[in-house]
Amino acid sequence: MTTIRDRSVDDAAAPLRAAMVRELRDLDGITSEPVAAAVGTVPRHLFAIGEPLEKVYAPDTPLVIKRNDDGLALSSLSAAHIQAVMLEQAGVEPGMRVLEVGSGGYNAALLAELAGASGEVTTVDIDPDIVARARTCLDEAGYERVRVVRADAEHGVPDGAPYDRIIVTAGAFDIPPAWLDQLAGRGRIVVPLRWRGVTRSIAFDRDGDGGALASSSYRLCGFVPMQGIGAHRELVVPIEDGLFLRVDDRSRHFDTGALAAAARTRPLEAWSGAAYDLPDELELFLLTSTPRAAMLHAGRELIDQGRFDASAGRGVPALVRDGGFAYRIRRVNEATGGFESGVLAHGPQAETIAEEYCDLLRRWATGFRRRGAARIRYIPAALAAAGGAQDLASVKPHGTVTVSWA
Ligand SMILES: C[S@@+](CC[C@H](N)C(=O)[O-])C[C@H]1O[C@@H](n2cnc3c(N)ncnc32)[C@H](O)[C@@H]1O
Repeated sequence: MTTIRDRSVDDAAAPLRAAMVRELRDLDGITSEPVAAAVGTVPRHLFAIGEPLEKVYAPDTPLVIKRNDDGLALSSLSAAHIQAVMLEQAGVEPGMRVLEVGSGGYNAALLAELAGASGEVTTVDIDPDIVARARTCLDEAGYERVRVVRADAEHGVPDGAPYDRIIVTAGAFDIPPAWLDQLAGRGRIVVPLRWRGVTRSIAFDRDGDGGALASSSYRLCGFVPMQGIGAHRELVVPIEDGLFLRVDDRSRHFDTGALAAAARTRPLEAWSGAAYDLPDELELFLLTSTPRAAMLHAGRELIDQGRFDASAGRGVPALVRDGGFAYRIRRVNEATGGFESGVLAHGPQAETIAEEYCDLLRRWATGFRRRGAARIRYIPAALAAAGGAQDLASVKPHGTVTVSWA
């Protein structure tokens, strides 16, 4: 495809791009000069032809590129903020070999800027339309040196390995063995990993020589799901119309009849006395600190009827036991001007569940209420088997995710 590039659009885009860099710095998305320079250089609008420039250069706006027949987004130009965050997590340096999983072209161009003329960037996508589009956009923007490959990334891209950095830009449920095999000895993988109903972009480094990985950072994110061999359907446990649990562990049994009856009872309200902030950090703590956790989702109707608090609208960690459940709420703390966390508990053992939940809220607030308090490890299946099963581990087909709080 040959297009004639409109230089007047380039001119109009330049100040918007500079403003976006400033905003991304203010939002703590950009924290280093190399990433600022890359984002300030690559013409993002050439990867979003036809979209209004204000939208293209808004820091928090993803643009959907392709949907399936049900309207589910299959490919998108991710929001600039999460792209910057992941580039900072990756720490790409000049001369590195980089593999990007999930193409669009824009992020690969940023990676090419960071890896420099002596580096190599390969981007792989499962979708031939996306591959063709990425190739065209990269050429148009002057990044002919980026290699675009069509393949299911489950197998990586062996002929460019080993990679110093692997950056995954689709929501992954697991880490396929090929990615670890193709990662250099001192390599780093940045992956939006989904477990326990939430996704975090995790920067994993190798943890010793045994093949395990340990997080150097993690951040809240959301991505279109991985397709192909690694596609995964989350387990959804319906309780009643508009009310469900999202869980990982298919061996867990839920007495849905009892939970439905509990959902119809008037909830017990309890307050923890603990501060509520850093919601993504607290969410991770709650979901990974008890085997009885699950994500609870309530539809708009149930919230509008006053049966469920708004906190359950976007998904909230719940404690599920004894035929009942409890979930987190919050209220303004007049004394501090901040928020206090509390609990609504449903079911015959509401008091006990509420107390257990409040204990967790207090434990987090006193011990772990800061960014980055969790250490996330990924242990490939062979090693995990040798170590024995762990109560709080999330077991996946190729390995196990564990989270420790220190
Ligand atoms: C969020 S988009 C990628 C955005 C892109 N990195 C950019 O610069 O804007 C996610 C992409 O992952 C691709 N994808 C999903 N599953 C895949 C798989 N198994 N192998 C390779 N690509 C995959 C999708 O086709 C989609 O284009």
